[in-house]
Amino acid sequence: MVETGALRRVWMVALVLIVLCATVLAGCGDGLDANASGEEIYNARCSSCHRRDLSGGIGSPLGPGSEAVDRPLEYYEITIMSGKGRMPSFRSSLTEEQISRVIDYVISVQEAG
Ligand code: HEC
Repeated sequence: MVETGALRRVWMVALVLIVLCATVLAGCGDGLDANASGEEIYNARCSSCHRRDLSGGIGSPLGPGSEAVDRPLEYYEITIMSGKGRMPSFRSSLTEEQISRVIDYVISVQEAG
């Protein structure tokens, strides 16, 4: 026979685990759906290192006036696909379509000055 107190504790632990799992799973998705715009992808995946305003931090500056402005398109694709230095590869976490959308966003911010 299991005493009621012990049973209640087991349920409490189970409940906490369920809530934790749900939180972790929600976090893993990053809230990034397949139709996320370039800006949404940038803010979710790039801004932690390159800052929301593209001014750079851990990652190099990408905004207007930065060296990134002069880089060819292929350089962006290769850097994002393969990663570079401390920057991770996004080959398996972003689709080609999402990568091209995020590049379009970065270039549009550069062009807006
Ligand atoms: C964990 C931090 C981190 C994240 C996240 C990150 N980057 Fe970077 N990024 C870097 C670092 C560091 C460099 C410089 C690498 C080097 O030159 O050694 C860099 C370099 C770059 C460059 C090349 C800039 C240049 O002028 O050479 C581009 C373009 C770039 N990142 C775009 C992105 C995009 C787009 C995303 C999101 C999909 C992203 N990065 C996410 C850290 C990051």
